[in-house]
Amino acid sequence: MCWLRSISRSPALVALLIQVFSFVPILLLNIVFSELKLSMFGWAMLQGVVAASLSFRLNMATWWIVIHLLFMPIVTVTLAFSLPPFWFFIGFLFLLLIYGKVYQTQVPLYLSSQEVTKALTSLLPNQRDFSFIDLGCGCGGLLKNLSQVQSNGSYYGIEAAPLPYLVSKLRNIVFAPSIQIKWGDFWKDDLAHYDVVYAYLSPAPMELLWQKACQEMQPGSMFISNSFIIPGVLPEKRLELENGSGSTLYMWRI
Ligand SMILES: C[S@@+](CC[C@H](N)C(=O)[O-])C[C@H]1O[C@@H](n2cnc3c(N)ncnc32)[C@H](O)[C@@H]1O
Repeated sequence: MCWLRSISRSPALVALLIQVFSFVPILLLNIVFSELKLSMFGWAMLQGVVAASLSFRLNMATWWIVIHLLFMPIVTVTLAFSLPPFWFFIGFLFLLLIYGKVYQTQVPLYLSSQEVTKALTSLLPNQRDFSFIDLGCGCGGLLKNLSQVQSNGSYYGIEAAPLPYLVSKLRNIVFAPSIQIKWGDFWKDDLAHYDVVYAYLSPAPMELLWQKACQEMQPGSMFISNSFIIPGVLPEKRLELENGSGSTLYMWRI
């Protein structure tokens, strides 16, 4: 059942399979009750309901259920506008540039707030120099803010999505030349070089990332996660952010 496990680790593939499996019963219904004469939109609505029920049965997150419910109806409505395929390609390209391989990483782009900078400075060393990396540094705002308020740090960022990387690189060149930003995959980076590793990702990579941190980071160094816990590992510190978002910073010492 190895293939089943690898499919379940790819939400995009699961989503595709759910839509395909939802198509079959509606097709059969249409064949058996040919007098039904479903319109294209009616078909799409029915398929949405079946797909949403399937994802509910599979205990998928609520937002997946909503996506499955609306996916086919939205596709049908969009097709009704008869837009030239070129615009879909442009839209796809734009999303790819902003989000990169989100279907693989399961980490979309959203940015740390100013409150995070404040909370982080209360965790960072004041008396000695330290190195800090933001894994998936997005548009580089957090690194720029931190470097301005905590100058005893050397700051590094790594980002995989092209457009956020470009923004952070430009920001870095213009406003904070001491920060080192690189384009790449943090799974291939060696975390041994950093005293503090910061991650604002999603629940998906946390368990594996913790294993990587424990294997590579030096004893005594800090691993900080914004919002997402490491399953089964109690943090040494928790800092609730005071911006009304309900977010928390979690800190583990290696
Ligand atoms: C939630 S955003 C956080 C942005 C930034 N760290 C901040 O706090 O403002 C997560 C970022 O991680 C990037 N990312 C996800 N997986 C990655 C990987 N394996 N290597 C590099 N960047 C990655 C995504 O492209 C996204 O821009």
